Amino acid sequence: MSVQTSSMIDDFAARVLGWYDRSARVLPWRIAPNSGGVPDPYRIWLAEVMLQQTTVAAVAGYFARFTGRWPTVADLAAADDVDVMAAWAGLGYYARARNLLACARAVVADHGGRFPDSEAALRTLPGIGDYTAASVAAIAFGRPAVVIDANIERVIARHRLIETPLPMAKREIRAALEPLVPADRPGDFAQALMDLGATVCTPRSPACAICPLMADCRARGRADIERLPVKPPKKAKPHRHGLAHWIERDAQVWLVRRPGKGMLGGMRALPGGDWGDARPSESGIVSVDHGFTHFDLTLTLVRREAPPEAADAAAEGRWWPIADLDAAGLPTLYRKLTDKMLERDA
Ligand code: ADE
Repeated sequence: MSVQTSSMIDDFAARVLGWYDRSARVLPWRIAPNSGGVPDPYRIWLAEVMLQQTTVAAVAGYFARFTGRWPTVADLAAADDVDVMAAWAGLGYYARARNLLACARAVVADHGGRFPDSEAALRTLPGIGDYTAASVAAIAFGRPAVVIDANIERVIARHRLIETPLPMAKREIRAALEPLVPADRPGDFAQALMDLGATVCTPRSPACAICPLMADCRARGRADIERLPVKPPKKAKPHRHGLAHWIERDAQVWLVRRPGKGMLGGMRALPGGDWGDARPSESGIVSVDHGFTHFDLTLTLVRREAPPEAADAAAEGRWWPIADLDAAGLPTLYRKLTDKMLERDA
């Protein structure tokens, strides 16, 4: 590892922050650089949880709806689980929404409704891991935490020409970044590197000519810059199959709530059987393909005449007006299926 002189360290942060002062994206949860605004830890935390594995563009509408409906952590803590799960529908990774509620409730119950202001204390809260603890500590509380997301990984792996594949490269990336974090603006520094990764040091065709780190970027000009950071070899994903049931009566459809634990836990859904390796023998009305993190699924919709009698209570089944399906808060998998079904009927 190369040794950094203090002037190189200062210069790295200064270049990144100078660029941020000119080019920061305007984002609904963000305090613009040098505006004198005070960040609201609740909004910062909510945005950081939503932004994990999701793009800024996908999050914006959700963030506006959540903060409009639940403006404070106490409001969110008092919300009904179903309402929060439905409001989250479409963002994916539904365990995050369950943890979001658990975290809001812990902040209210154990911390008097105020987020703790250190990385270590934040990490004790439900759903707050290393990334969220560091980003909230830095952005909301000005703590000099080392924040690393996929954009920052890319910027640093290229600047230092780190050839170790992820996830092993994480240690080197952290070691490179740690001495660079400026004590006076750690939150802006983290967000600057995120913006740089999202808008300049992009995965494909990075705009090196306008990058503030161009002068000493070790990957600049390399034909294979897009290879960095080096990804681990892709594992083949298993393919699963499942049936969903379309049970219709008087312009309504039968919906259930999935069990709290497991895939799409706590989300409203169409009823149906377990997902497995075998292709179903029934041919359905429509089917959709959907990619989850660890497997791909083909879900086939079949008609059933009536809800199963015994299972109703446990699955919290209810009739839902078909014309109002938009408001049911179905996760994307089921939205795709019902959209296709209704398109076909139209
Ligand atoms: N991605 C995750 N957190 C972000 C933030 N605070 N600003 C921009 N992009 C982000």
